[in-house]
Amino acid sequence: MDDLIISSEEFAQIARLAIGGQQDDARLFVAKMVRKHRIDSPDFAKRLEDLLKSLRTARSSQLLRKESITKPQAPLPVDDESRLSLFRRYEDQVEQLHPLLSANLEQSFSQLIQERQQVQRLSELGLRPTKSAFFLGPPGVGKTLTARWLAAQLNVPLLVLDLTTVMSSLLGKTGANLRAALDYAKSTPSVLLLDEIDAIAKRRSDDSDIGELKRLVTVMLQEVDDWPSSGLLLAATNHPELIDPALWRRFDLVLEFTLPETKQIKQAIERFAGDEMPYMERWLEVLTYGFQGSSFSDIERTLQRFRRAMALGRSRLDELVEDFVRTCVPKLDKDQRKAFAVILADKTKLSQRTISEITGLARDTIRRARPIQ
Ligand SMILES: Nc1ncnc2c1ncn2[C@@H]1O[C@H](COP(=O)(O)OP(=O)(O)OP(=O)(O)O)[C@@H](O)[C@H]1O
Ligand SMILES: [Mg+2]
Repeated sequence: MDDLIISSEEFAQIARLAIGGQQDDARLFVAKMVRKHRIDSPDFAKRLEDLLKSLRTARSSQLLRKESITKPQAPLPVDDESRLSLFRRYEDQVEQLHPLLSANLEQSFSQLIQERQQVQRLSELGLRPTKSAFFLGPPGVGKTLTARWLAAQLNVPLLVLDLTTVMSSLLGKTGANLRAALDYAKSTPSVLLLDEIDAIAKRRSDDSDIGELKRLVTVMLQEVDDWPSSGLLLAATNHPELIDPALWRRFDLVLEFTLPETKQIKQAIERFAGDEMPYMERWLEVLTYGFQGSSFSDIERTLQRFRRAMALGRSRLDELVEDFVRTCVPKLDKDQRKAFAVILADKTKLSQRTISEITGLARDTIRRARPIQ
């Protein structure tokens, strides 16, 4: 049976790669075969996998040697043609960044940091620290910010791989660029963030993603497996549905960033209102309700706009809030509008008539919705 497992076309492909001395490509091809045949021919897949493992060990000892001779400040790799850097590099002060996080995320990050501080203790127990984490979540909820904060906590720079530059180079060179970038990150003490990883990590079954893109995903799969536990590999996306499950299964942690809930909305208002908070205090309930369903960066942008308008003396805060309230109403359903109307009636000086006009509710409805005063 064994001799029927791979097609003559596949055999020709592997022969071409081997004879042409393309060792990396041959390795990727074999990795693909392992995945393809894991179910139908487990013995065959296992033999190939063992072969890959022995190659990998040889490769990582090369890497370690490379690590010892690489200067800590080696220049960032660039795309040959455009000379654009493949990375953005951040070296932040930790105090500047503390993101507002849900209790669950706080827990996960505090453990992750503690693991790094106690590597020795873990290794005595045969354990290694978390080496990879996948951040999911809508735009503007702190995925990139948290990666920066985390790197600062760990006292290393954050390297953000600019996948647009990697991808915009000639397709044939993308794989080489990606490998150069990942090799650099592995050999430099750093946290690496693959931002918007959906750009390359589309499902491999997607027919429009032929050849090269599929190979890139295979490179990524291998890299996540091979990532040294001295480093930390992060990937972020707001399109989890586009990611090949084979990829994110390989990450040690999958962390979901969500839109802020009431408590975090309040904290965000307090943070982004800055020195104007004493004036905003009065509007806290109204703003908090209005910001439901908004991201942190939406809240930040709106409050920045308020502050600029106030600083220039162009508008008063109550006018700004009233305009803001008007933009919030269309996204609310009827029950939410009733609840909002009650807050507006209780917490602002707006007349019943104005509240009724803003929320589109009859004055009687609003009156009935208010608890007996
Ligand atoms: N959790 C948060 N705590 C505090 N500020 C935040 C948070 N999330 C976002 N912000 C503010 O919004 C800005 C943008 O956030 P960030 O770039 O981290 O979002 P993101 O989740 O990476 O979004 P995208 O998916 O669009 O890349 C931050 O620089 C910060 O000012
Ligand atoms: Mg981001």
